[in-house]
Amino acid sequence: MDGTIHTQPAAAPVIQALRNIGYKSQTAIADIVDNSIDAHASAIDLKFEYGDGDGYILIKDNGSGMDNDELQKAMTIGSKDPREERDKNELGRFGMGLKTAGFSLGKRVSVISKKNGILSERCWDLDLVSKHNKWYLFKNVPEGILRKLPNIEGDSGTIVYIDKLDRFSKAGSSTPLKKNSYFAKIKRIHDYLELVYHLLLNDNLTITINNNKLMGWDPFLLDMPEVIREKIIEGEKQAFRVNGKRVIVRPYVLPHPSNYNSTEFSLAGGIRGWREHQGFYIYRENRLVTFGDWLGLFKKESIYDLIRIRVDFLNASDDDWKIDIKKSSISIPEEAKENLESIGRFYRQISQDIMLYRTKRASGSQTKRAIGTLNTWELDNDSNHGKYVLNRLHPILNEILANIDDETTKQLKLYLNLIELGSPMNLFEMEHLIQCEEESLDLKLKNLLVLISEELLKKNPDMPLDELVESLMLFPQFETIGRIALEQIILKDVIND
Ligand SMILES: Nc1ncnc2c1ncn2[C@@H]1O[C@H](COP(=O)(O)OP(=O)(O)O)[C@@H](O)[C@H]1O
Ligand SMILES: [Mg+2]
Repeated sequence: MDGTIHTQPAAAPVIQALRNIGYKSQTAIADIVDNSIDAHASAIDLKFEYGDGDGYILIKDNGSGMDNDELQKAMTIGSKDPREERDKNELGRFGMGLKTAGFSLGKRVSVISKKNGILSERCWDLDLVSKHNKWYLFKNVPEGILRKLPNIEGDSGTIVYIDKLDRFSKAGSSTPLKKNSYFAKIKRIHDYLELVYHLLLNDNLTITINNNKLMGWDPFLLDMPEVIREKIIEGEKQAFRVNGKRVIVRPYVLPHPSNYNSTEFSLAGGIRGWREHQGFYIYRENRLVTFGDWLGLFKKESIYDLIRIRVDFLNASDDDWKIDIKKSSISIPEEAKENLESIGRFYRQISQDIMLYRTKRASGSQTKRAIGTLNTWELDNDSNHGKYVLNRLHPILNEILANIDDETTKQLKLYLNLIELGSPMNLFEMEHLIQCEEESLDLKLKNLLVLISEELLKKNPDMPLDELVESLMLFPQFETIGRIALEQIILKDVIND
């Protein structure tokens, strides 16, 4: 065209830039899996071969496959215009994923695809691109790789094979990834895929990693045992429009921590733990894009652990939600902010109420009373004096109690009593009570006194009464009890027994 100079970007620097757009291994793998789902695959099998740090990643699907022209187009950077309207349910967007995700893992991306029984192949090798600073694409996949590929059974399907894994496993460096770290990485990918595809993994879609079938992890705990499920509060489903397109919001208030056994509790906490899993879960075409995030509207705090809010939007709204190339982040459209903020605020309050021991009417119908919280200290409702007690239902404490013998349990409980009575808050409260007389002594305090005396006597059975009383008076908890009262209690309730 007149007045212009046709300028082609130099290949090597562009490739380097594309390699650095910030994929994590799991988001890169998911982007490639998205393509298989878009191709209506019902089986997607991933294989990670360690190869002492110089192995390969293979993603095989039984989807619709590509013919030669389609594959050529697919391997082109920017193969589709992001402004193009996408099919309903389609997960792709920028026409970049296959390449950018692939290159973020390794330097060589080979694809072999079958359509109507005919195989096509292409291979990008960034070593070649860098050497010539040109977009040279191999028509064929190297022999050495072809030999390793499994068959594509049936009429159609695709295999993406990535090696020269300089990014994924530091292949080619002097310190390739150690076996432990490598498998830890695969575990993270496994857990991530079980989360982001949990709505899609069903009878119509199976995904395996090294022959292990992914199970899908539901952040709203709808696949937990009935005793837990029946305690989930499903908030009112709400729909509104952003730029004319529908957004659906489904809030969930999860059962209080005291409802789970320790295995269930940690499972329900998810891959990143309870605190990191509170917040919005944004789904695009049933594929989770962002999770456990208040999206800048609120801060995370443990008392909001029980709230997970599902938000669904369609791929037609990509622009409004500013989906990024990696499909791992979005930002809330202005139009949706107010709605999401008020829904978030409402449910956060419910979580806070449950966590802080109160009852609350949720979504107009159910009334839930919580027993115990994640707090370590709680106000003792049975005491008139505003005393603080340790939360005996705390999951960590319960876990410990379940694993120790009776004698240790006794000692631990005694110790907890001491902590309770010795807490500065409670000592302060006690100053207001004049408890010199035995009769007016708080029963709990008296029991504690008896227990401690027994412990002390167990350790030293010959301890004279005077010495015992003096030892007891050293406990700050018993400071307010007079010497005479102390003696009386010991004589009556300890030595007399
Ligand atoms: N596994 C696959 N099966 C069939 N077609 C595929 C597969 N992977 C990629 N393609 C084709 O390649 C195109 C480019 O993929 P990609 O670079 O990920 O961009 P996008 O998914 O945004 O379109 C896809 O739109 C699709 O037509
Ligand atoms: Mg894609």
